[in-house]
Order: sequence, then structure tokens, then C-alpha cells
Amino acid sequence: MYDLIDLHCHILSSVDDGAYDDDMMKSMLDIAYNDGIKAICFTPHFKIHQFKNDEHIRKYNLHIERVFSSALEYVNEKYSDMKIYLGNEVMFHNDICNSLSTGKCRFLADSSYVLVEFKPETPMFDIENIVSKILRKGYIPVIAHIERYSALVNDPSKLKELRGLGALLQINAGSILKFWFGKTARFIKNALKNKLVDIICTDAHNDKELSPILSKAHDKIFKRYGEEYAKMLFFTTPNAIINNVKIY
Ligand SMILES: [Fe+2]
Repeated sequence: MYDLIDLHCHILSSVDDGAYDDDMMKSMLDIAYNDGIKAICFTPHFKIHQFKNDEHIRKYNLHIERVFSSALEYVNEKYSDMKIYLGNEVMFHNDICNSLSTGKCRFLADSSYVLVEFKPETPMFDIENIVSKILRKGYIPVIAHIERYSALVNDPSKLKELRGLGALLQINAGSILKFWFGKTARFIKNALKNKLVDIICTDAHNDKELSPILSKAHDKIFKRYGEEYAKMLFFTTPNAIINNVKIY
């Protein structure tokens, strides 16, 4: 069995709406490790409109680095075979390439891949525009939780288009388990059946109902779509991202 890798989660304590203290952060790291997750990229939210100015961003990033150091200390002491990295879940904005190149927000694990989120109602025109902008700069967008965007759920043919441009597509592990009926369930099922999904992540926010667990979604996909695709979603592709290897 291969290790599981999680590239989208909010485990760092007191930086965003994820873990609210160190105890919860540690509890989430314990849950992840016991679930078979051996590499994690923390992705605190980066929403540029929430910052007053550049100094505010600098302080936010310093705080993230300090909390990351304490997570690293805990992991090194308790789980020597676990690796952790830093990134951001970046809310799309016009200036996103500038935010990345100036270090205001982070790529996934210092690679050229960036986790980008949109609003549920963002029109396709804006999604494509941002994706193209990022790609033109030589960076690779990983679109967070594609199952949330009505532009995609209402027109799944857009998934192929986005991948054709060079974007990678991510679905939350919880969504794989949660949706059984209806439009979103059909959207997820078809995306998986047609192998249009690139990675599955936890998007964990706490140690309860939104905890960092990948194995259940992994096992469901393994049974339904086979080992090769399951391994690609949970290990091969996220591992390539961490190592900054080109996928297409
Ligand atoms: Fe998230």
C-alpha cells in the first residue's frame, strides 16, 4: 500500500477558520497520521480583500511560519516518517500572479503549483480567465473543490476544457462520501468515471466532522474505479506536485 498525501487542509492553529488552538492542530495531525497520510501541505486561506495593506499580509505570513515551526516540531518528535509543507488556498483575484511572484501568497510546497479557489457563483469566463493568466506565467493552477462551482456542475464539459488548458482539478474527500443523490453526486461520479479529477484532498477544518481523513474516500474510489486511478489521485499526482514534476 502506498502512502496518502493531503495537499489541501486547514490544520495550522489560529491562522484561519481551521484548527482554533494547538491541541486541535495536534489532534488533527494524529488523525491524519493514523489514517495513513504521510505528507501534508497546509493551505491556510489567502483572501486578499481581507487584508488592510502589505504590512498586514506580512504579519499574517509571519504568524503562519511560526505556527508551522511548532507543527514541524510536533511531527518530527512524534511521526518521523511524516512530511509537512506550506502552501495557501488562494481566493482568485485579478492580481494573483503578482501576489504569487512577490511572495504575498504561497505555491504548494514551494513548487510551481498553486491551489486556487473561486466563489460558488463565479462565472466560467472568470474561472478561465484566471486559469489562463496563471498558466501564461508558467505556474500551474490546481482548482480547489470543483464540486462547489455552479459553472462547472451545470456544464461538466468545462472540466475537459480546464484540463486541456493545463489546470489540475481537486475534489474534497468529504464530498465523495457525502453526496449520494442529485446533481452534485452525478457531477462527481461522472468526473471520476471519465478520469477528469487529478487529486482528492481533505480540506479538513477541525478534528470532528471535517477531519483530515482520506482513507474512506480512497477505499470507495479503489473499489469503484480500480487501484491505478486511486493511486494516481491519492499518491502519484500529489507526490509529483510536491516534487514540482510536470504532470501533463
Ligand atoms: Fe479549503
